[in-house]
Amino acid sequence: MEKVKLNNGVQMPWIGLGIFRIEDNEAQRVVETALKVGYRHIDTAMYYHNEEAVGKAIKNSGIPREEIFVTTKMWNADQRSGKVKEAFEASLKRLNLDYLDLYLIHWPVEGKFVETWKKFEEIYQSGKIRAIGVSNFKQHHLETLLKETTVVPAVNQIELHPYLTQQNDLDFCKKAGIQTEAWSQFAANQTGLFEEKILTDLAVKYSKSPAQIILRWDYQRGVVTIPKSANEKRMAQNLNIFDFKLTEEEIKTINLLNENKRIGPDPDHVDF
Ligand SMILES: NC(=O)c1ccc[n+]([C@@H]2O[C@H](COP(=O)([O-])OP(=O)(O)OC[C@H]3O[C@@H](n4cnc5c(N)ncnc54)[C@H](OP(=O)(O)O)[C@@H]3O)[C@@H](O)[C@H]2O)c1
Repeated sequence: MEKVKLNNGVQMPWIGLGIFRIEDNEAQRVVETALKVGYRHIDTAMYYHNEEAVGKAIKNSGIPREEIFVTTKMWNADQRSGKVKEAFEASLKRLNLDYLDLYLIHWPVEGKFVETWKKFEEIYQSGKIRAIGVSNFKQHHLETLLKETTVVPAVNQIELHPYLTQQNDLDFCKKAGIQTEAWSQFAANQTGLFEEKILTDLAVKYSKSPAQIILRWDYQRGVVTIPKSANEKRMAQNLNIFDFKLTEEEIKTINLLNENKRIGPDPDHVDF
C-alpha cells in the first residue's frame, strides 16, 4: 500500500477502510476481512460505536500493531463538556490500544474547537497519538486554528466526491501542509454517482469500475480516501487503483461534475 507523508513525518496509507454505519457485532468480521484483503488503515469514531470491534479484529489478525494505521474521532458532546482527555482515554480503552495513529476533532463545534485543539496538542505531546487532525473544518475554521494554536493539523477529513470537489479547501490545505482526506467519496452510493457517463466511459477505457475511477481521481488530486465496504470483493477492488493513470484532461472532466452538493451536514451548522 502506497503511503503519504504527513506534516510531522508520519506515513499514512492512501486508502483506508471506512466503517460508519457498521454495527459493533458486524464490524469485527468486516475489519478482519479488510485486514486479510490487505487494508492497513481503518477509520472509526466514537460516534460509530464500533471501536471495540476494531480492537478485537486487530488483535485477532496477528498483524503487528505498528503496521496498521488507526484513526478515531472525538464526538461533539465531549467537546461541549470539555472532557477531551477522558474521551481520548475512553476511545483508546475501547480500541484496546496503547497509542493511536490519528485522532480527529469530528466536527468544528462553534466556540469550543480552539479549546479542544489545545487539549489535543497536550495529548499529542504526551506521545500517545502519532498525529492529530480535524474533520469537517472549512477554511475559516482552519484559519482560526492556525492563528490561535501551535500544532498545524496533520489532516482535515471532509465530505468530498465528484459532486462536491472542494477545490478551494484542497488548495488551501495543500499550501498549509494539511493532508485532505475524503469521506463519502462515493457520495455514500445514494445519488446515482456511479452511473455518471464520464465515470462509466472511463471505467470501460481502463477496465476498472466507476468506484475505482473515483478513487484514482482522488489519489491523483492528492486526497486520501476511506471507502466503506462490507463486501470482500468490493473491498479488494477499492485497493486496486495503483496500476493505471487518468490524464489531466480526464481529471478536469470529472471535476465538471461538481455541484457543490453535500449529502451530509454543513459544518457551519453543528447543532448535533
Ligand atoms: N468525518 C465525518 O464526519 C464522516 C462522515 C461520514 C463518513 N465518514 C467516514 O467515511 C467513510 C466512507 O463514507 P461513507 O460510509 O459515507 O460512504 P462511501 O464510502 O462514499 O460509500 C459506501 C457505499 O458504497 C458502496 N461501495 C463500496 N465500494 C464499492 C464499489 N467498489 N462498487 C460499488 N459500490 C461500492 C458500499 O456498499 P457495500 O458495503 O455493500 O460494498 C456503500 O453502500 C465512512 O465509513 C466513515 O469512516 C466520516
